[in-house]
Amino acid sequence: MEYKITVIPGDGIGPEIIAETKKVLNQIGRKYHHHFSYTEVLMGGASIDAYGVPLTEDALNIARQSDSVLLGAVGGNVGQSNWYSLPPHLRPEAGLLALRKGLNLFTNIRPAILFDALKEACPLKQEIVGDGFDFVVIRELTGGLYFGERKTFEENGIRKAIDTLVYDENEIRRIARWAFEIARKRKKRVCSVDKANVLDSSRLWRQVTEEVARDYPDVELSHMLVDNCAMQLVKNPGQFDVILTENMFGDILSDEASMITGSIGMLSSASLGDTKLGLYEPSHGSAPDIAGQDKANPIATILSAAMMLRYSFGLEKEADAIENAIKKVLDKGYRTQDIMSEGKKLVGTSKMGDLIGAEL
Ligand code: IPM
Ligand code: MG
Repeated sequence: MEYKITVIPGDGIGPEIIAETKKVLNQIGRKYHHHFSYTEVLMGGASIDAYGVPLTEDALNIARQSDSVLLGAVGGNVGQSNWYSLPPHLRPEAGLLALRKGLNLFTNIRPAILFDALKEACPLKQEIVGDGFDFVVIRELTGGLYFGERKTFEENGIRKAIDTLVYDENEIRRIARWAFEIARKRKKRVCSVDKANVLDSSRLWRQVTEEVARDYPDVELSHMLVDNCAMQLVKNPGQFDVILTENMFGDILSDEASMITGSIGMLSSASLGDTKLGLYEPSHGSAPDIAGQDKANPIATILSAAMMLRYSFGLEKEADAIENAIKKVLDKGYRTQDIMSEGKKLVGTSKMGDLIGAEL
């Protein structure tokens, strides 16, 4: 079967980790007789340098017409790069937001798993970690504060700025359904996170998730306030299965979730909507400080490609094959610098890609 993939290498370490991911995908293609074709487009800083905007209409259309989108990372050093002297709507990150919105990718799936081979890298105490944890953050991605009306202005000589947090019930319902569907395939527990003791949007969020829950009697729904959730993640992460939350809370909690795994270089993510077309990208950023040095960990991007095979193309055994190959390489002791520990074998980006390809 032929699959058309839009590839966005992006900025910083993006091109290197994407190159390794393509190696692995091509290996899957050879082994299982699929053909992956790639169309590269620019986004973020790379697109600003070439076209003056972080995402062109052409690039968005190419993405729309493909079966799926694979992204490296976008952005640079805020303090150093000229990209950040541009107005906000022309900065690298605006390209990513426009892509999410343009493809209607309202569901963001971010797994947080404590990998067995990397337990030493977890910054939490052993008594807190216990038997480990494996949960997933489902973040609403095209609403809330990120896309509400905003402005900066002056009133009676005082500078003022406004951002608005808006959700309608349909936006809440469709993301809640995703969370329940995913929970059904896991431990059947959804923890919906909000700030219902203060925010109207959160109170509506709570109501609607409870309505949706009635269609999923086999899944247990609980609610948690976002400040408490931030605390519970470092106190008892093993309690979570599926965390469902709005855009901004999800942005913050998913960073915290990835940090407690001790291996942000290993965490994948998927963004989906109503169709099979998805956007797959590592949870980490563009790490401009190590770009071009063969130091980046390509595993998060390779795992994102595995998610693409699973969620967009329905290729379960191929996705399993990639995940198992990664486990084997880690079990053999190979590590990139971000997950290196004593007695292990340090390898670069490209070697890591080769090793995973070879296991396939
Ligand atoms: C993320 C990132 C983005 C976000 C930024 C780069 C706009 O932090 O994907 O979590 O806030 O959504
Ligand atoms: Mg973020």
